[in-house]
Amino acid sequence: MALVRTAILISGRGSNMAALIRASHAQNYPTDIALVVSDNPQAAGLTTALEAGIATHVSERSTFDTKAAFEADVDTALRSANIDLVCLAGFMRVLSANFVAGWSGKILNIHPSLLPSFRGLDTHQRALDTGVRISGCTVHFVSAELDAGPIVAQAAVPVLPDDDADRLAARILRAEHRLYPQALAWVASGRVRMEDQAIFIDPSLPFNRDQSFVVPNV
Ligand code: GRF
Repeated sequence: MALVRTAILISGRGSNMAALIRASHAQNYPTDIALVVSDNPQAAGLTTALEAGIATHVSERSTFDTKAAFEADVDTALRSANIDLVCLAGFMRVLSANFVAGWSGKILNIHPSLLPSFRGLDTHQRALDTGVRISGCTVHFVSAELDAGPIVAQAAVPVLPDDDADRLAARILRAEHRLYPQALAWVASGRVRMEDQAIFIDPSLPFNRDQSFVVPNV
């Protein structure tokens, strides 16, 4: 089967991007990471992508007059590279409804909480402030509403008594690095799709739904 051409959008460190690149090197993994796009020219993840021999593109918001022009540049980069699927991985911009509609069912995001709890920023501190005992991460399809699209997979991570936001973030990040490659493989292979803003699991393809809830070692 032809590999699904996948782009990753980043803004910074790019550790989830690196996890997806690593996974894509495995035999039988269904995607080729063909492009990395960053809105930040200083993003450390750009260096990682270059070292992995992956094409990169920088679209810096401040160099465009409007958000629409910025998004048009990103869209052109994706379409010129014949991209089929887009993974947001620490991409710190909210994409417009118009952009999302153009890639409907083809954009994934990873969010460091068990959605629908703690949408948006500062998730770890908010989780600690609320006193939840279990947090985690979620891979979901991107919809027009922030962090609200249909959920592909989640990983649960315990909140420990002496956690601060950094310790909790580090523990959840380890789960993110396992969850995102798994979720991308399901979507790229057609096992999991978004239809009418809901998750559709193809009954004709092998799929172990138990694996969509990962409880990693602490
Ligand atoms: C991750 O925690 C991701 O869930 C969130 O932003 C962080 C990005 O980290 N959206 P990295 O750039 O992938 O290392």
